[in-house]
Amino acid sequence: MSQLLARKNVDRLTAELPGEGQGLRRVMGKWDLTALGVGAVIGAGIFATTGTAIAGELGVRPGAGPAIVLSFLLTAFTCGLAALCYAEFAAMVPVSGSAYTYAYASLGELVAWIIGWDLIIEYAVGNIAVAISWSGYFRELVAHFGIGIAAWMTTDYRTAFQAAEAVAAGATDPRTLDLAAATTSAPELFGLPIILNIPAVLIVAGITALLVYGIRESSLSNSIMVLLKVGILMFFVAVGIFFIDPEHYTAHGGFAPNGFAGVRAAAAIIFFSYIGFDAVSCAAEEAKDPARDVPFGIIASLVVCTVIFILVAAVMSGMAEWSQLGTAEPMLTALNLASGNEALLGFSRVVVAIGAVIAMTTVLLVFQMGQPRIFYSMARDGLLPAWAAKLHPKCRTPHVTTIITGVFVAFFAAFANINEVVDLTNIGTLFAFALVSIGILVLRVKEPNRARPFRTPFSPWVPLVSAGSCIFLMLQLPTVTWIRFGIWLALGLVVYFLYGYRRSKLRGSL
Ligand code: ALA
Repeated sequence: MSQLLARKNVDRLTAELPGEGQGLRRVMGKWDLTALGVGAVIGAGIFATTGTAIAGELGVRPGAGPAIVLSFLLTAFTCGLAALCYAEFAAMVPVSGSAYTYAYASLGELVAWIIGWDLIIEYAVGNIAVAISWSGYFRELVAHFGIGIAAWMTTDYRTAFQAAEAVAAGATDPRTLDLAAATTSAPELFGLPIILNIPAVLIVAGITALLVYGIRESSLSNSIMVLLKVGILMFFVAVGIFFIDPEHYTAHGGFAPNGFAGVRAAAAIIFFSYIGFDAVSCAAEEAKDPARDVPFGIIASLVVCTVIFILVAAVMSGMAEWSQLGTAEPMLTALNLASGNEALLGFSRVVVAIGAVIAMTTVLLVFQMGQPRIFYSMARDGLLPAWAAKLHPKCRTPHVTTIITGVFVAFFAAFANINEVVDLTNIGTLFAFALVSIGILVLRVKEPNRARPFRTPFSPWVPLVSAGSCIFLMLQLPTVTWIRFGIWLALGLVVYFLYGYRRSKLRGSL
């Protein structure tokens, strides 16, 4: 038992860092780190999941309605507390590997393994959702240029059959009719319609190829992307504000039509839009002054994104009746449903669609690049086979794990339903945040005298409330998500005891 709890000493972690001039270059200042965080955060969450959060899902959960702004505040509160905990760890253990590394230092190897395994959900499963959302916006974008992609090539079984049921029950709106057509127009195999999200598969394949080849987002290209993403969202706000009908905030069941139940259910969904600020901590080895700049970057990116998200959500829910916004491309839906200057609305739809496609491409790139880095840290510790850390002889990229990640993401992106994938990503990431928060407390007790360049304020309260609010949000997710998450963790334990337990370098050296 004590072996399972073996901790990697913080000194050992820091000692494993390459010496001066050998490792990654320390070039990132506090604003570069903030841009990194904003770049990783703004993606499918705000562009896609806001729709389901506002409108809810029939038979699954209630929507927040215009009170979605409160959901964003609730989630920002949870993420803010977790961010303070991440910041303490990142400043104290400026080693890449994020939550996995922190857990190794505080809670021991077994929990570190669980987190590492769990981070596959954050990065790889998260990317499945982004790829599906990318495909939705891409379809809308090319449609503006007269290229129609059949519904059976851009949706999933669940969405298509739900739409077919709705049509059978009398729905007549064009979107539902289009989705329902996927069930009848698709080619069949043994009598079963083939419904495959082909653009989602293709974008993942393209990103994987680029990453194997060795493309990297430089700090400069990331900053350009961030300006573009923020610019697109601000453009939506600036245009949308003229199409707000104040009636929409109150007329359809009130500001919070489903009360707090809707607000908290939505908070657990839009948590997805905040995922990524923790990526700043992955860059600790590249920060000029990690102790000062990493906490700044984490917290500043969170503040910037919260303000933008609230503006977007407030405008979106003022542009249409909340119950009609439950699509995978809610910003386009809002621009579709608004009435007034048609030329401006049409132009805005094209701008937003282009912006969304580009924004989500960069999120795919960042997350798909992050996953092999985590595998790399785990393989370096002996918890995964050495080939997982092997670099391509010419491209110097972790090609094997990049390709495995790509195949995994592409396979599920072809069939999965975005809401289900978002739920799974959220439960996994919230779990990691909760463990990191608890890790802060454990290390404060075990190593009270260690230098902490950044201290989470009001300890133990902040870490405790952080862990508690993460668990609160997890509890808002559907039972089926808990079951899937449980299966995933159980599978992880089997892999650990069959492999990592015997091969761990740390336990080998005890
Ligand atoms: N926050 C990231 C996104 O919304 C995961 O795409």
